[in-house]
Amino acid sequence: MKGILLHGGHGTRLRPLTHTGPKQLLPIANKPMSQYCLESIRDAGATEIAIIIGGIGSNKVKEYYADGKKFGVKITYVEQEYPKGIAHAIRLCKDFIGSEKFLVFLGDNIIQKSILDYAKDFEKSDAEASILLCEVDEPSRFGIADMRDGKITKIMEKPQKPPTNLAVTGIYFLTPKIFEIIDRLKPSWRNELEITDALQMLLEEGNKITYHTITDYWKDTGTPDDIIHANKAILQSMKPYFHGKKDDAHVTGNVMVGMNTQIHNSKIGGPVIIGNNCVIDGVNIGPNTSIGDNTKLSYCNISDSIIMSNCILSGNLKIRKSIIAANSNIILEDDSDEKVFLLGEGTRITL
Ligand code: DAU
Repeated sequence: MKGILLHGGHGTRLRPLTHTGPKQLLPIANKPMSQYCLESIRDAGATEIAIIIGGIGSNKVKEYYADGKKFGVKITYVEQEYPKGIAHAIRLCKDFIGSEKFLVFLGDNIIQKSILDYAKDFEKSDAEASILLCEVDEPSRFGIADMRDGKITKIMEKPQKPPTNLAVTGIYFLTPKIFEIIDRLKPSWRNELEITDALQMLLEEGNKITYHTITDYWKDTGTPDDIIHANKAILQSMKPYFHGKKDDAHVTGNVMVGMNTQIHNSKIGGPVIIGNNCVIDGVNIGPNTSIGDNTKLSYCNISDSIIMSNCILSGNLKIRKSIIAANSNIILEDDSDEKVFLLGEGTRITL
């Protein structure tokens, strides 16, 4: 089975974080979110992977994943000139896929459970597609499956009046039959070729679509709050390690600290990850917080946040539910109340 990883799109809902690169490279627990997807595809047995790229910073995707060797896979890059839809992106991979069954993963979906068993089931089955469903609180934000007697009867994209709360997650098992279906699709109201419309057409034409329901963690990281939520879930599942140095530091809970990181006179309450070469001085961090490599923090108090690499934060700052992109500086000279930030790369703030 081969794999397709979708790494294109404009990431408009996550601006300004996506002004300098694709959203799928934003870090969750100090690792690009699409790397979790790539590893999941690989661990399901698909080691030949096409990555769909397009939009701002697609060169960064190529730089990071290169030929895939480092990740134990072989990567082919497929350029999508404009994000004309998930089905459009899949259609671009027709030659790459050939005649085999395959698996598609949206690069902004985070799932904790292995998908290996689902892949094995699909290999054996006579279905033309298999999807993973997950109960959600806001069904009108997703593709939705309607059911009767345990069978899928209809698949629709972001319905205003959802018949169920069963979201179609961004992990699809397909056969090459989908390519001829996509060739007959019409663009949707959002002017995209929708994978949900392709699945619906498969159903209407009498093909079998199977499903599994996920009860473990799954998140479509469409908004900053979703990213902060996924960061918390991944941090909670990590095993603690400490490769840095500390003096006069109080460390409790699930805490991961990288090489050459120095922690002085600080309180770290996990789950928290701190990357390599950081300097942490007089700081209160946690819970649910990621700090990227080479970042310097002094005198601040941070929880439920992601501070990326090469940042400097200094002063009596209380940072909550924030995402601060790489190379940003915040210097606070006076006292402050609680703050929420969503800062793009290279931001400078002096308060
Ligand atoms: O996450 C699950 C949901 O994903 C499903 O429930 C929906 O049925 C499905 O349409 C999709 O909805 P979104 O509105 O969240 O899709 P989004 O536009 O965010 O694109 C999903 C991923 O695919 C994202 O990583 C960007 C990438 N993409 C998207 C488009 C439209 C591409 O690479 N190329 C594209 O043309």
